[in-house]
Amino acid sequence: MCGIVGFVGNDRAIDFLIGGLEKLEYRGYDSAGIAVLNNNKFTVNKTTKRVADLKTKETEKLIGNLGIGHTRWATHGKPDLLNAHPHLSETQKFAVVHNGIIENYQSLKQELVAEGYTFKSETDTEVIAHLLEKYYKNDIKEAVKKTVDRLKGSYALGILCSDLPDCLIAVKNFSPLIIGVSENANVIASDITAIVPTTKKVIYLEDEQIAFIISHEIIITDKMGKPCKSEVSQIDWNVESAQKGGYDHFMLKEIMEQPNAIEQTIKNRIKQNEVYFEDFCIDEEKLKSFEKIQIIGCGSAYHAGVVGKYVFEEMLRIPTQVDIASEFRYSNPVINEKTLTIAISQSGETADTLAAIKEAQKRGSFVLSIVNVVGSSIAKASNGVLYTWAGPEISVATTKGYSTQLAVIYLFAVWAAKRLKTATKEELNAAVEELIKLPKLVKEALKCEKTIKETASKYKDAASVFYIGRNLDYAVSLEASLKLKEISYIHSEAYAAGELKHGTISLVQDNQLVVALCGVERLFEKMLSNIKEVKARGAVVFSCSEKANKQIEREAMINVYIPKTHNLFTASVEIIPFQLFAYYVAAAKGCDIDKPRNLAKSVTVE
Ligand code: BG6
Repeated sequence: MCGIVGFVGNDRAIDFLIGGLEKLEYRGYDSAGIAVLNNNKFTVNKTTKRVADLKTKETEKLIGNLGIGHTRWATHGKPDLLNAHPHLSETQKFAVVHNGIIENYQSLKQELVAEGYTFKSETDTEVIAHLLEKYYKNDIKEAVKKTVDRLKGSYALGILCSDLPDCLIAVKNFSPLIIGVSENANVIASDITAIVPTTKKVIYLEDEQIAFIISHEIIITDKMGKPCKSEVSQIDWNVESAQKGGYDHFMLKEIMEQPNAIEQTIKNRIKQNEVYFEDFCIDEEKLKSFEKIQIIGCGSAYHAGVVGKYVFEEMLRIPTQVDIASEFRYSNPVINEKTLTIAISQSGETADTLAAIKEAQKRGSFVLSIVNVVGSSIAKASNGVLYTWAGPEISVATTKGYSTQLAVIYLFAVWAAKRLKTATKEELNAAVEELIKLPKLVKEALKCEKTIKETASKYKDAASVFYIGRNLDYAVSLEASLKLKEISYIHSEAYAAGELKHGTISLVQDNQLVVALCGVERLFEKMLSNIKEVKARGAVVFSCSEKANKQIEREAMINVYIPKTHNLFTASVEIIPFQLFAYYVAAAKGCDIDKPRNLAKSVTVE
């Protein structure tokens, strides 16, 4: 997810561009850049630092009143000055900024290179700048129409042409793009956060629409050039709530973004019903050389790894160990070149995980990392990386980071099972079908929000909460319990349900809230007896299972149901009610949800 801004009007463009990019930095900040038209030439300034770094003596002097800007969240190509936007065409006649993914950029790039165009970056975006030049015969509408016709995928574009000193062009398809309308200037941005300080009158561009914006007129057409009706809306959001998409906290916004984040992570990795990793670092021969999988991570990343253990052992029949990175690195681990180490990290900067990777590599192990930040330290230190494409995660307590880590774990398991022949063709097809459905199922699971919110307000003063489960349910209970502790400060413990009777059940007394996760169907009856066990000691039970069950409704006072999915993918839907439970308990307590006390989004120190 990146941030785009554009300006055409009576004032200097640079002030809106930089001010707008600063408001959009939460959308992506691994690099940024601006282009302003001055005397029919583009002045471009880029940085791999923060947006404020764009404020230089040179940019301060830019008086041009037409410009575009961009904050990048890298998906194709590492975050560096060559890959930072805006991208210029061959003769620097066009400047382009882009948010989204051009799925057919490689074939377009090959075509353009064959025609003599030279590429400076690794990005998909640069093909757009060259296509505009290729099709431009002094008719900008024709050039834009032909270019857009060639693009497949998601894109929000800001385009400038040095022949048109007062025309800003905007194109939208799947990625968000909004026009701000005012007497003094017309602007574009990825979301209203950047527009609100300038104007509260906006036009929401629709998919496949193209806008030709000059300071006193806006022409909107469809991709065939047919004029489209548009209406100006008045917005009443302030900047703060706009950044949160209207939610009270980034955490709730990111919980709700999970279906899309999972879809972004999965969709380009399934082709013709098979899992496909582009330029993957592991081939079949190397895969077959591994006799053990070692997973490492911290916090929620570690919890995703616990899910990974169950999934890999079930699907790949390879012994899989999962360790907390800070424990692994000092344990003199028994690993070697026959061990595949999988390091999981949202930020890609967690010091303990980075150090553990080095320990694994010292012992000859091949390290594959699952990371959300392109070009991060952990991605660079690993032998190979599979990115989650969750977009920037602002809330300290991870939600979409964790769920997209699970999605990559499932993708890798299906990819490997096919090559290791540990699953039949039917089993693989069924798993891929369920993977494709996962975003919809997670969206379905989010429907429990109202029930959860009511339940949460009843338990905001609980002294402690137990989460119990078996197998994958135990793995989810670890993450459910951590969520509650992190943001509501209520003590909580996750326990393997079968282990309760060996000690911890002594803590269960009247009105103790015990959350019983019963998503693993084959262990449902076992969980039912654990529910009876704790109820007999006075516990209040909050159950979660796949189907309405008379038995469980007799025993548990609170019941939440999750959609049925592949038995190995349960964690993705089962965590949803407990992310929401933690959120609403913390909200009822008035906690600082996005920035909980004592916590950091990424702990880059040991
Ligand atoms: C903690 C975060 O500091 O680090 C957790 O608060 C996170 O949310 C953990 O799970 C690991 O971070 P990362 O970036 O390596 O996944």
